[in-house]
Amino acid sequence: MKFLTDEKLVIVGAAGMIGSNMAQTAAMMRLTPNICLYDTYAPALEGVAEELFHCGFDGMNFTYTSDIKEAFKDAAYIVSSGGAARKAGMTREDLLKGNAAIAEQLGKDIKAYCPNVKHVVVVFNPADITGLVTLIYSGLKPSQLSTLAALDSTRLRSELAKFFNIAPDEVIKARTYGGHGEQMAVFQSTCTVGSKPLAALIGTDALPEKAWEDIRLRVVQGGKNIIDLRGRSSFQSPAYLSIEMIAAAMGGRPFTWPVGTYVNNGTFNHIMMAMETTVDKNGVTVHPVNGTPEERQELERSYQHLCKLRDEVISMGVLPPVEDWSKLNPNLG
Ligand SMILES: NC(=O)c1ccc[n+]([C@@H]2O[C@H](COP(=O)([O-])OP(=O)(O)OC[C@H]3O[C@@H](n4cnc5c(N)ncnc54)[C@H](O)[C@@H]3O)[C@@H](O)[C@H]2O)c1
Repeated sequence: MKFLTDEKLVIVGAAGMIGSNMAQTAAMMRLTPNICLYDTYAPALEGVAEELFHCGFDGMNFTYTSDIKEAFKDAAYIVSSGGAARKAGMTREDLLKGNAAIAEQLGKDIKAYCPNVKHVVVVFNPADITGLVTLIYSGLKPSQLSTLAALDSTRLRSELAKFFNIAPDEVIKARTYGGHGEQMAVFQSTCTVGSKPLAALIGTDALPEKAWEDIRLRVVQGGKNIIDLRGRSSFQSPAYLSIEMIAAAMGGRPFTWPVGTYVNNGTFNHIMMAMETTVDKNGVTVHPVNGTPEERQELERSYQHLCKLRDEVISMGVLPPVEDWSKLNPNLG
């Protein structure tokens, strides 16, 4: 079977659960023969590489290194889950400080070693912040960097399908926007369930208000639920969706779940958050998010929460004040 491209894909954090699953998924999907695994923890990285060699994939040329310069040389695509994972009792935001510093270094390394990279997907949490920090320090255009936010929408689709006992495919355009943390905005007006508008079902016998509230809560706490069930944070679904995103950027099937993207549109400013988007070989295109007045208010609340987090990172000194961002990245001017 043909590969989508022969350009170099670097998986950052490849020794971890998401990273190792991403590498295997990318090979199974025949994205490129040229996959480089990078992680700061060399022994586990070698272990992952050995496992992938033992899969016996045809035509693959896996390489691995803990030298960032070597990893990023000639990189055309990067997906990074390289950072600390959430433990039981922690929110995504608890990870803020350490992972924001890792994002700063990632951005600087992109600028130094692969300024011509075509697309970067940031997965490590809190992805709205780590993605923003990486974008600012990398010097890339906003369309060239996306963050994994789709899991919240796929979880909404799954919860609705379970509740109505229908195939997930019959739930169309389940959407959450804004932050990828627990302050996300869960929309109803975009979505149809078995061809009926979700909004028309809520509050009826088919979907009483309380049942909808429970669904909403399970979506918002979807990550926590996996930790409770498995004793560790989710890795299969984030790995798969991130590889679908980078495959789309390589020219594969466009990715139409919402991704986190840089927004500076007069309503939401200097922020990375989930919007209605398409990822394809031109990178991220942002489409308008409409919604009811209540949904727009919820999105505004989510945005305000992200602004608070962003300002915390500025006060920690990891990011300069907003007015100085364009000095680091002229594409944000
Ligand atoms: N965006 C999402 O939807 C989503 C979903 C689930 C998990 N996550 C996040 O993804 C991240 C990874 O999760 P995981 O389960 O794979 O964790 P993990 O602990 O299994 O793996 C993380 C890997 O990153 C490596 N690492 C740490 N610092 C690094 C650095 N500076 N450069 C390169 N590699 C580095 C570690 O050595 C480790 O191998 C976490 O931050 C987690 O919260 C995001």
